[in-house]
Amino acid sequence: MILVTGAAGGSQGATGRMVAELLLDRGHQVRAFVRQDDHRAEELRKRGAEVAVGDLREISQVIPAFEGVSRAYFTYPVTAGLLDATAAFAAAAQRAGVERVVEVSQLDASPEAFTPRMRRHWLSEQVFDWAGVGAVHLRAAVFFENLQVAADERELGLPLGAPDTRIPLIAAEDVARVAAGFLEEPGPVDPVVPLTGQMTTIGQAAAALGLEYVDVAPEVWEERAMERYGDPYTVEHLTHLWGIFRFLGTTDHPLFRVTDVIERVGGRPPLVIGQS
Ligand SMILES: NC(=O)c1ccc[n+]([C@@H]2O[C@H](COP(=O)([O-])OP(=O)(O)OC[C@H]3O[C@@H](n4cnc5c(N)ncnc54)[C@H](OP(=O)(O)O)[C@@H]3O)[C@@H](O)[C@H]2O)c1
Repeated sequence: MILVTGAAGGSQGATGRMVAELLLDRGHQVRAFVRQDDHRAEELRKRGAEVAVGDLREISQVIPAFEGVSRAYFTYPVTAGLLDATAAFAAAAQRAGVERVVEVSQLDASPEAFTPRMRRHWLSEQVFDWAGVGAVHLRAAVFFENLQVAADERELGLPLGAPDTRIPLIAAEDVARVAAGFLEEPGPVDPVVPLTGQMTTIGQAAAALGLEYVDVAPEVWEERAMERYGDPYTVEHLTHLWGIFRFLGTTDHPLFRVTDVIERVGGRPPLVIGQS
């Protein structure tokens, strides 16, 4: 039995939904952890998943979901509560004797990272490691979907400076394919997995989506972002994230490398923005 969180699929990438579907298609038993018992949960049942309803931050709701589980996928959206959810999930996984937890982190998760969310992801990785649950940390680049959410009908307005600013990208679908691959892999695997599917510039990424890239002043972007995202935590993270790329501009960075694990474990070459 494989426990998959975020299985209903949300607005950031719906990685949990895709992981659940890939595993079901490949004949695995899946327990889909969802926050609410809505039409998405019903669709998962129809596809053959068992459904567990609960809040990932609430240990009393997480423990029962682990009954009979040997492997698990953990994702938690960019909003408040990551460390609460991590602690509950790691403790419940340890108690159940789980042998592998594949979890989504971010490309530069480290104590020195420039966004508070990335530093929290690093803490989250530590908690999973301490729990001894065979944690695999998928350190993902910016999802294509992140740019799509930021776009209007004709424009992609972001505070990234000149159009030749470099940006590492990945399709959420490729994150899900790698996650499913690691959940199926019987042998030992690398615990830290950087995931970048495409290195491009923000101007080229916008053009691939049929949009015109417009450089927005950081303070103007931050003001507008509250209207678009409605969550101060998300806005804080994105403001810092876009600030990093704006600062780096055309500079190369050691993390700016397409990673072969997408093809090796995900089973096909990385998707390219605008063509997926
Ligand atoms: N976006 C990016 O560019 C990017 C880049 C790198 C890494 N990441 C990482 O990717 C992860 C998010 O990706 P994703 O595609 O899985 O997000 P997503 O599509 O937004 O899905 C999140 C899922 O979690 C569920 N959920 C939210 N709060 C919950 C709670 N308290 N208890 C139980 N379930 C809860 C949501 O359910 P409802 O829909 O019912 O609310 C939804 O199904 C984050 O860790 C983020 O840091 C994102």
